[in-house]
Amino acid sequence: MTFPTVLIDGRSVVLDGHDIPGRWLRDHGDDSVSLNPDTKQRLVDTFAIPSDVAPVAVAVSDGRLEVDWSDGGRTSHSIPALERLVVTRRAPETRPSFGLTVDDDLELWSSAPDVSWFDVSCFDDDAAWQPAIEHMYRYGWVAFDGAELGDAASARLAARIGYPRSCIFGTLWNMNSGSFEHADSAYESGNLDVHTDGTYSHDAPGTIIFAQQRKTGEGGDSVLVDGFAAARDFQVAEPEAADLLTRYSVRAHYIEPGVHLVAERPPLRVDECGVLQQVSFNNYDRSPLLPAVEVVDDVIEAYNAFRALFSNPDRALYHEWKPGRMLVFDNWRCFHGRTEFTGDRHFTGCYTNHEDLESTYRLAGLTPPVL
Ligand SMILES: [Fe+2]
Repeated sequence: MTFPTVLIDGRSVVLDGHDIPGRWLRDHGDDSVSLNPDTKQRLVDTFAIPSDVAPVAVAVSDGRLEVDWSDGGRTSHSIPALERLVVTRRAPETRPSFGLTVDDDLELWSSAPDVSWFDVSCFDDDAAWQPAIEHMYRYGWVAFDGAELGDAASARLAARIGYPRSCIFGTLWNMNSGSFEHADSAYESGNLDVHTDGTYSHDAPGTIIFAQQRKTGEGGDSVLVDGFAAARDFQVAEPEAADLLTRYSVRAHYIEPGVHLVAERPPLRVDECGVLQQVSFNNYDRSPLLPAVEVVDDVIEAYNAFRALFSNPDRALYHEWKPGRMLVFDNWRCFHGRTEFTGDRHFTGCYTNHEDLESTYRLAGLTPPVL
């Protein structure tokens, strides 16, 4: 049996001759402090890792690499898994640059716009529905009030767009605080960082519909951020970093008993004219970043800098809930999260496909027909 050679070289760990940058390694432990042991959702605070973090001690035992870090942290890594990651690192330069522009028909918002409430009766009235879908198109979300309790209102809204999409959470789902029907951070009660859903799906949900059923206690506002406005502002502030995020794919996963989903795409997905189509970002569900060693710092800098920009609270719309209120938003455009809460919080809701949302826009005359 041969033992790997491990040594420290400045801010890197060198494993059997492979240079592993410390800033990357600090974020990619597979110990129970870094990753949820069951879901493999990320627990380490990626964005709190100092950019100059360095290993101070390394040890190998039982096929694992243990590292003590200059920030006081300690990580543990499966050596076979690390070796697999090291050989799959890729350079983002292999993907061409198409530029990055954002459709100027949209009302991009970098701070919270006023909330207009539409009555749910518009679901059954074409004339009353038109301003609601126009709001959705321009801002990426629309809010409703006056919904009956139960899941019928979510089904009616989904039918206005297309149909509820079946997925691992069901079709029309119930989300009860404390029920833990799925081992996902969304079911907990702490602050939930803004993110997009379905980064582990090749075709991420197009819209997310929430309808509040019950609420006790404090907090639990939904948080929305315009990801397209954030992408535009990021491109103005840091064009090279923004370009990198159009070319470098980030992989994500969802794991629970009987399920192991994996998908990947760039955080800023553009078409071949450079027009932004979709933002994707969920650090909880992110798999290891695998940039080639020469660009690892650039990729981490770009990823962290975009997150710092879009998670600035000044950009956020805080949506206060009460039973009967509903919200639908474009999961390809808006980041969503939640403030910490106490008490009970019960929602019904569902996903719909993005192609159905686009169809709805065409039928409403908001985007041109193809033929
Ligand atoms: Fe979510």
